[in-house]
Amino acid sequence: MEFLAFLALGRNISCMTFQFPKLSDIPQEFSIEPIHQKEYLIDGELKTWAGDTVMVRSPIYTEENGTTKQVLMGSYPSFGKEEALEALVSCERAYDGGAGEWPQSTVEVRIKAIQKFTIMMQKERDLIIKLLMWEIGKTYKDSAKEFDRTIEYINDTISALKVGDRDASRFVFEKGIFAQIKRAPLGIVLCMGPFNYPLNETFCTLIPALAMGNTVLFKPAKFGVLLLQPLLKCFKEAFPKGVINTLYGDGASVISPIMETGKVDILAFIGSSTTANIITKKHPRLNRLRSILGLNAKNPAILLEDCDIQKSIPEILSGSLSFNGQRCTALKIIFVPEKIAKPFLVAYLSALKELKPGMPWEKDVMLTPLPEEGKTKWLTELIEDALNKGAKIQNEGGGKVQDSFMYPAVLYPISKNSRLYSEEQFGPIVPIVPYKDISETLTYIKESQFGQQASIFGKDPKVIGELTDILVNQVSRVNINAQCQRGPDIFPFTGRKDSADGTLSVSDALRAFSIRSLVAAKDDEESKQIFREILEKKTSSFISTNYIL
Ligand code: G3H
Repeated sequence: MEFLAFLALGRNISCMTFQFPKLSDIPQEFSIEPIHQKEYLIDGELKTWAGDTVMVRSPIYTEENGTTKQVLMGSYPSFGKEEALEALVSCERAYDGGAGEWPQSTVEVRIKAIQKFTIMMQKERDLIIKLLMWEIGKTYKDSAKEFDRTIEYINDTISALKVGDRDASRFVFEKGIFAQIKRAPLGIVLCMGPFNYPLNETFCTLIPALAMGNTVLFKPAKFGVLLLQPLLKCFKEAFPKGVINTLYGDGASVISPIMETGKVDILAFIGSSTTANIITKKHPRLNRLRSILGLNAKNPAILLEDCDIQKSIPEILSGSLSFNGQRCTALKIIFVPEKIAKPFLVAYLSALKELKPGMPWEKDVMLTPLPEEGKTKWLTELIEDALNKGAKIQNEGGGKVQDSFMYPAVLYPISKNSRLYSEEQFGPIVPIVPYKDISETLTYIKESQFGQQASIFGKDPKVIGELTDILVNQVSRVNINAQCQRGPDIFPFTGRKDSADGTLSVSDALRAFSIRSLVAAKDDEESKQIFREILEKKTSSFISTNYIL
């Protein structure tokens, strides 16, 4: 299959040159001054850090006289064991075994605090969007979308919380016993988000955790730390002291001592399964620990012979390359019937040519620099491995690297023994596998260690229907003629095998961060009288028939 092979890796490529801007080329509204963050939030106080710091480098470089230089964005505190444990003590004190102000407060009070926080957060929109662009290289459009989607998620969470509380405002009578059943907090939550959605995915666990009355230890992702700094004062003012505490620095120094105490009740972590396993295993009482994990994935796109190639291309292109393929839901391997491989490649490559590389603030830009240090080198190794095993780079400039930027590499035909067949690339590489019989794709999915989602592109209802029936028992969402994705956020978002533990959606998250607890009594007059008086005199906030309007 040589028909489209352009180049071997490393040759000189003239038509695809990527240029970082000169400092003077950066538009005024997107220029940035270094932020040296000294504040951290523990026990309701914004404290000032005087110890070691972690340097923050942007994926963006600037160019002067033919030399590129990585932009230094600032720094943030690097905690040691002592500060980590101080944050834990603060969290524990605020929870106070469930007797603290926050776990004892009514749903209405918690909603008011979250609303206050949201109003304050919205005032920081422009700065947070700008920091998203500079810290992780996300385009302006996608950064704005991440911010706005997060606000929408918080508002939807508040609505779902009200629905849950209304449903629980009545008593249940059964077999001579009556009870009031509600959802109660679990305790201390350690919340850790991913660098690709450092705001949105972090808040998709942080907000429901707080909403259900837990207290939180919050460690920002490895990139996208400074963008949370403007929110520290909002947390401080909106929530009672100790309800949310920040952790900064190296995971081994900060997370290990906290987990080893055995006092964490929920680990909410979005990232790699290897890291999740390391963290979880530090907990000495695993049955106490509830894990809510969003992990690795290698979602396949399966094209069928009758698929409408032209209509499928925008979905497959955006599925494989939006945010440079750095989405857990990205299409990370594409299966194409041999018979349509050629027209598919022609159409995909022609659409790819239209994707604009550049800086996150440029209009219509789609391909941007990557935030992970050493990532382009690692991706190049994956490409070299595939080339050694028979694949060819199909697009001009594919895999070309300039500092932190890699132009997407479309690789075909990918063989079963190449690393890209099974490893998650989480970057701008598009591995394409030709197949003769559909059973080859099903074997791939069955044998994969991942099980998040899959996409089918085709027309025949019989084939699609039968394929769906098998796939729904292998992955957690099957997308028909559409790319894989998390949203809309009211849909359950989860995965099988090594892709997730627990389910997130607006309402599922509220369930995940709470446990049902009930108060029950014999259905006799004496018990009823006690309950009547509790309700009349409002001596309990749990035993209550208040209905939130
Ligand atoms: O990185 C994983 C995200 O949950 C994907 O979300 O499908 O909305 O980009 P998305």
